[in-house]
Amino acid sequence: MSANHSTKRRVAYFYNHDIGNYYYGPGHPMKPHRLKMTHNLLLTYGLYKKMDVFRPHWASREEMTKFHSQEYIDFLQKVSPETVRRDLNEATTKFNVGESTDCPVFDGLFDYCSAYTGATLDGARMLNHNLKDICINWAGGLHHAKKSEASGFCYVNDIVLGILELLKHHSRVLYIDIDIHHGDGVEEAFYVTDRVMTCSFHKHGDFFPGTGAQGDIGSADGKYYSVNVPLDEGMDDDSFAYVFKPVIQSIMTRFQPGAIVLQCGADSLTGDRLGCFNLTLKGHANCVQFVKSFGIPVLVLGGGGYTIKNVARLWTYETSVLVGEEIADTIPYNDFYEQYKMNNYKLHLTPTAQVNKNTKERLDMVLGRVLRNLNYLRGAPSVQVQEVPPDYPESDASILARERADDVSGAQAVREGIHTADTSKKHHEAEYYDGPNDQDGEGGGGSADVEMA
Ligand code: FE2
Repeated sequence: MSANHSTKRRVAYFYNHDIGNYYYGPGHPMKPHRLKMTHNLLLTYGLYKKMDVFRPHWASREEMTKFHSQEYIDFLQKVSPETVRRDLNEATTKFNVGESTDCPVFDGLFDYCSAYTGATLDGARMLNHNLKDICINWAGGLHHAKKSEASGFCYVNDIVLGILELLKHHSRVLYIDIDIHHGDGVEEAFYVTDRVMTCSFHKHGDFFPGTGAQGDIGSADGKYYSVNVPLDEGMDDDSFAYVFKPVIQSIMTRFQPGAIVLQCGADSLTGDRLGCFNLTLKGHANCVQFVKSFGIPVLVLGGGGYTIKNVARLWTYETSVLVGEEIADTIPYNDFYEQYKMNNYKLHLTPTAQVNKNTKERLDMVLGRVLRNLNYLRGAPSVQVQEVPPDYPESDASILARERADDVSGAQAVREGIHTADTSKKHHEAEYYDGPNDQDGEGGGGSADVEMA
């Protein structure tokens, strides 16, 4: 991994200082605090010197409704922990939020969504204008959210919105998802289009969200443009690379995307509170390095990750890979230093003795089917670089069609976005440091009823 650190790219990093203070509730495994830990760790490693740090804008209701329904976003904007108790049944049934779901209503919920979504949109716009080669938003990547429904700790699908933004300037966008859970919300949004290829590597079989079977390949114009790589527990670094590299290589050759969105969910790491894979930081980051090596604009997002000290380790290391800078294995003193005691204050993790249920035969079978399906892409009209994007039938209620209709306001939004995130808003170095926050430890009880994300 380290041998490939040398390639330099123009990198932008987006961080909203409020993001770490949102709180899903006692015992809930999703902890935005991990973002503050990540930010603090990568700053103490000095990585801010290798990239431009931006304060993202807050995404508006109008920006969110480029994908989500007005009714759902209105609800998210109005709901509070008090009102949801009063209207619990309706909200739970209609939008899948509330105490009986894994998507609670907490203080500042809409602002939280606005914060992580704004950063994803700013990143997409910066890539569209060729201002950067790589944009990073570790707070984003909430891949389970649906058009009118929360799911798996996700409320607003910043990934779908980011891809829609990229489609304004790119004929084809590739979405890659290495979170341990299937990227169902993104796949569903683009299931019938050949302008977006989605590719998810995930645990499949008696595991949330239950979708992502290998036979789900897209439909209508999108047939063969959804790629699913179902895996079993115990995936290690070698097994992951064994399937990841040939699949992505084949997609890059045949699909030739103009931009890539990479969801880097950290719950595929060894020792994750909710996951069951056995990847080390290096195995996970190898995927990031491989994607980076194609030299195509990349929007890098976070996602799941529930052993929060390891989430901070991973995303810090992946930031170093993206900026092309080696960092020491000994963790420098930082605001959350004691959180790293367990692994002797070392950055890198060692895999456990967990059995890898993915035999070579099984991986060969999965890989063979994926590569055969990708062969059908040869000669597909939209693979031509100069091809005019195809039209989509109105009956799809296609988000793409709506996006075209909104082109004028979209262009305005692009200008505003860049302005908001322009270099004059770069943080002063002294602002980089947050004080220690409440240390929301892991492994607390009360989460058994939480399905996961
Ligand atoms: Fe996940």
